[in-house]
Amino acid sequence: MSSKIMLPKPNNETCLGRLLKERRSVRSYKESSLTLQELSSLLWFTYGCVKPDCERRTSPSAGATYPFEIYVSVRNNGVEGVEPGIYHYDAERNELVEVLKGDFSRQLAKACLGQRWVLNAPVNIILVAVAERTTGYYGERGWRYIFNEAGHIGQNIYLASVEMGLGTVAVGAFNDDQVSKLLNLPEGYEPVYVFPVGRVK
Ligand SMILES: Cc1cc2nc3c(=O)[nH]c(=O)nc-3n(C[C@H](O)[C@H](O)[C@H](O)COP(=O)(O)O)c2cc1C
Repeated sequence: MSSKIMLPKPNNETCLGRLLKERRSVRSYKESSLTLQELSSLLWFTYGCVKPDCERRTSPSAGATYPFEIYVSVRNNGVEGVEPGIYHYDAERNELVEVLKGDFSRQLAKACLGQRWVLNAPVNIILVAVAERTTGYYGERGWRYIFNEAGHIGQNIYLASVEMGLGTVAVGAFNDDQVSKLLNLPEGYEPVYVFPVGRVK
């Protein structure tokens, strides 16, 4: 017979414990813009640089290959002082680089099989993998690491959202080709995950 060990009560009355207890998928958001400060913090928590030259980031990465690029779709009035559009997050320079002008939330929601939370969120964070960075090093197994890493980054978004009074939901159900076309992604860039984010209703 296998022996059992009774565990003491977890010590989860901590900062991290609170974030984990409160983490949940949120699918309805207030009609309220985010501030640029909030977006900046959210993106840093997501995949920001913690060392010069982005040698280390807020998420672990197999062989420090960092296969992800972060895109943000901002709807009309989604972020104070920011024109609606699709932006690329340049983590090293802490900049948003415009990819396309305009409110694409309707097209993005359609590509995500009509999920309303994608349409209604002030911003959608899209995790895009540049697979070659990791598969070039690890071969086919690199794909496993890419999906592992998407989970790490996604959890960053969930926990950061709780801390900031925001809500998010992981969206994996979408048409890859439609999202790629919408974002005008170069060859070899693959959308992996979409995270609508907004103020909790
Ligand atoms: C890989 C993955 C894909 C998901 N895709 C979707 C999705 O497309 N749409 C959605 O509304 N929720 C999606 N979810 C969220 C789950 O439905 C949610 O995490 C689950 O019901 C547990 O609820 P909780 O996050 O509130 O604990 C996804 C979650 C994961 C991990």
